[in-house]
Amino acid sequence: MKTETEIKVWDPLVRIFHWSLVLAFTIAYLTGDEWQDVHEALGYFIGGLLVFRLLWGFVGPRHARFKDFVYSPARTRAYLLDLARGKAKRYLGHNPAGGWMILFLLASLTLTVSFGILTETLGEKSFIGDASKEVHEFFANFSLVLVGLHVLGVMVSSRLHHENLVRAMITGRKPLYPDE
Ligand code: HEM
Ligand code: HEM
Repeated sequence: MKTETEIKVWDPLVRIFHWSLVLAFTIAYLTGDEWQDVHEALGYFIGGLLVFRLLWGFVGPRHARFKDFVYSPARTRAYLLDLARGKAKRYLGHNPAGGWMILFLLASLTLTVSFGILTETLGEKSFIGDASKEVHEFFANFSLVLVGLHVLGVMVSSRLHHENLVRAMITGRKPLYPDE
């Protein structure tokens, strides 16, 4: 089902936030053991992105707001059951499963950055510093697992609704179907 009518869904700041995060996360993950200065600078940059996204979730445009995409557990469960039957409804903004994934990603990244800063402050040689480093690495890897599930979700959802969600996160626009 193709249509010429498109509607603007993602504002420019959400899109810049997303693709900067993808780039910074990838390089921060790869430099963790190798290139400390770059690693920490990118880590702080990600921290800044997270603060921005938290604020934007309250004051940003409609689809950027948490209240637009955080659904109750019951509604999320119903969505997942529909998804398993291949009958999930299409959402213009984030769907309930995607919405929760975003919260988990933001939380896991916040913990990764916080324990990274703690490790740096305490020094890896001290006992607590070493423990903090382990926690930091745990959340970095946990974030990576979430990212894998996130990208899988994007692919499944794109297929199910015959739309290109990655393109939408680049252009900000989604096709508007006649029944919407
Ligand atoms: C989302 C952002 C971040 C990610 C994904 C990330 C990821 C990682 C990973 C995967 C490692 C383990 C490397 C290894 O030993 O194999 C690591 C180590 C480390 N990270 Fe981060 N990190 C982030 C932010 C930060 C920040 C903000 C700081 C401090 C300001 C920091 C400080 C450290 C330190 C001190 C280590 C230990 C390095 C070593 O083993 O010598 N990280 N990080
Ligand atoms: C190349 C890999 C990636 C692709 C193709 C991708 C794609 C997307 C797409 C299409 C959306 C919108 C989902 C929807 O339509 O509901 C989205 C949202 C999001 N993604 Fe990714 N993503 C990728 C990697 C990442 C990574 C590495 C992170 C975090 C470290 C991340 C975090 C997020 C967040 C937080 C959102 C919510 C955007 C917002 O409302 O602010 N993504 N992603």
